[in-house]
Amino acid sequence: MATGKGLFGSSLARKYWMALTGLFLITFLIVHLAGNLQLILGGDDVKDSFNLYSKFMTTFPLIKIVSYLLYASIVLHAVDGIVLARQNAAARPTKYVKNNAGANSGWASRNMALLGLITLIFIIIHMKSFWYEMHFGSLDTYMIDGDEVKDLYSITVAAFEQLWYTILYVVAMTALGFHLWHGFQSAFQTMGWNHPQYTPIVKGVGKALSVIVCGLFAIIPIVIYLQQ
Ligand code: HEM
Repeated sequence: MATGKGLFGSSLARKYWMALTGLFLITFLIVHLAGNLQLILGGDDVKDSFNLYSKFMTTFPLIKIVSYLLYASIVLHAVDGIVLARQNAAARPTKYVKNNAGANSGWASRNMALLGLITLIFIIIHMKSFWYEMHFGSLDTYMIDGDEVKDLYSITVAAFEQLWYTILYVVAMTALGFHLWHGFQSAFQTMGWNHPQYTPIVKGVGKALSVIVCGLFAIIPIVIYLQQ
């Protein structure tokens, strides 16, 4: 319920921000997936095309602005999620031995905070491995047609040649898949975008997206691991 604490402080405002940032993060995921599929579909000159693509994505001014929005959205989504989960836990009167929750809501919807937390831990490890290296690390560089690029491709492939790292991604993508399974349609509901005809379609699209996007994300490290 709104407590009149303005644009960020009330729990209603937190839910709206979670919904809006969540939808933005899903949009990022689809674009990010398309870029990363190059890793397994890229053909003979995949190293050069991936490194040129990465250079463009980290230096083109408009995309840099979108990146800052992305970092802010991740932080806002995570902080609001943690605050709301703690408020919900505190508001729960007693811990029922059997609360029949399964009859009222799906497993994913009851475990959104845990699934979100696993995803957040994944994002921190993931950004340390690639984003940090790209921006602040000391990657090898080389020239492509007079253009100096950092060799992000080689450290990305090397990371997935380790079994534990590939397993980490598959586990994290499973958690993210369940998070999106409920999260996509939940965002529409929070925003009040309900419609007798379109809501079932939104639910179907959310489920399809979670399986396809997270499934393809998980396939990338598996293929690289098996191809080494
Ligand atoms: C196979 C799966 C994935 C691969 C190979 C991959 C690869 C990469 C690489 C190479 C970068 C560094 C490029 C850069 O700095 O812009 C990056 C950045 C990033 N990745 Fe991933 N990624 C994967 C999945 C994911 C997933 C599932 C998420 C979110 C849940 C994610 C979130 C991010 C974020 C937030 C950044 C920073 C983007 C930016 O600076 O604009 N990635 N990823």
